[in-house]
Parts: sequence; structure tokens; C-alpha cells
Amino acid sequence: MSGTLTLALTKGRILKETLPLLARAGIVPADDIASSRKLVFECTRPGVRLLVLRGTDVPTYVRHGAADPGVVGKDILLEEGADGLYEPLDLGIARCRLMTAAPVGWIPGPGRVRVATKFTGIARRFFAEQGRQADFIKLYGAMELAPLMGLADVIVDIVDTGNTLKANGLEPLDLIADISTRLVVNKASMRSQHAAIEALLAELREAVA
Ligand code: PRP
Repeated sequence: MSGTLTLALTKGRILKETLPLLARAGIVPADDIASSRKLVFECTRPGVRLLVLRGTDVPTYVRHGAADPGVVGKDILLEEGADGLYEPLDLGIARCRLMTAAPVGWIPGPGRVRVATKFTGIARRFFAEQGRQADFIKLYGAMELAPLMGLADVIVDIVDTGNTLKANGLEPLDLIADISTRLVVNKASMRSQHAAIEALLAELREAVA
């Protein structure tokens, strides 16, 4: 909507770390996001509204211009692709690592590796670059369970503290990418809403610093 800047946020852990950053930039939702079932929030600053989405949907909203800037993890951008998006700012929050992991002491056999992950695109590229033959099993959560139940040999997942791996008898193996949360901007919005987006970028850069 012209004149209104629509910012798409990723719910969950990223949202918790995004809100203080936005507050430092002077953007505060008029309702309490944590306790509300609403998905779109007006802000105390007129002309800005917030959408609260699943991370995987943020690039889609921004790419189609249904949101102008978006806040999303680099893992999602690597998996979904960043066509049509600028990625002007690393917000430096929700830092973690995208890694392979396997049961403690697991030794690769001569055959194909079975890899369970929700990041099948990233995993395919990584194993291909390594020249390792692999089959991929798409899961939507609780990847750590797959090796325990004999569904897969290896997982590709986000590792933060490493506690989830440890609690399930797994250990991290290869680092695929360091991950943090990025601000993405629709390329057309960057032109049509140039002043508002540049101002937001400057405020967020300062809040990050
Ligand atoms: C992520 C990830 C791991 C866990 C890693 O899941 O998939 O399960 O966090 O964190 P740790 O190294 O600190 O234990 P998340 O809780 O974000 O939920 P998700 O499965 O929906 O991604």
C-alpha cells in the first residue's frame, strides 16, 4: 500500500530478538504481539505495519511486494533462494550454524548416505560439492529423531547451543554455513518506497550497531 511500509517479520525465536531491535529504531507494535492472535499489527509510528509470518513465507511476501522489507533467517534465504530480493543488512540476531550431525561415533559406510532435513536444497548442494552420494528425506521438524529411529544416517539442521543434538545422542560434524537474521527488501519497493526504506535501514543499522 503506497505510503504505508509493511514489514514482514519471522515469528518465533527471531521475532523475540527482532522486537527490541525495532523498538531501538522507534518501531513499537500498538498491540502485544506475544499475546495476540492477530497477524498484522499497526505500530505506534504511523505509516508502518508489521506482519507476523512463518520464516519460509517471508521471502514470498517480500518477493511479491505484499510486504516491502522482511526479516528472515539466512537459512531460509539459502534454501528458498533470494531472487527479486536485496539483502542490505545483517541484523546479527538469532545467530546459529547450519551443520550436518550424526549419532556420536558414526562412521560413514561405503554406500549412499541417508540425510534427513527440512533444508533439502542446501543439503543436496552441500553433499554434491563434497562429492558424497546421498539420498534426502524431507522432514518438517524434530530432525534429531531421524537417526535414532533408523530413518536416516545424518541430519542437516540448525545448531545453536548444541543441547538438542546432545540430548539425542548426536554430535555436530560439518559446518555448512554460519546463519544470522537478515533484512531483505523487495527490489521494486526499493525504488518506489526509496526514502522510507532508506530511513528504516539507517535506523536499523544504528540499532544493530
Ligand atoms: C532448532 C533446530 C534444533 C534446535 C537447535 O529448532 O531445529 O532442533 O533449534 O538448538 P540448540 O542447538 O540450542 O539445541 P527450533 O526450536 O528453532 O524449532 P524448529 O524445529 O521448528 O526449527
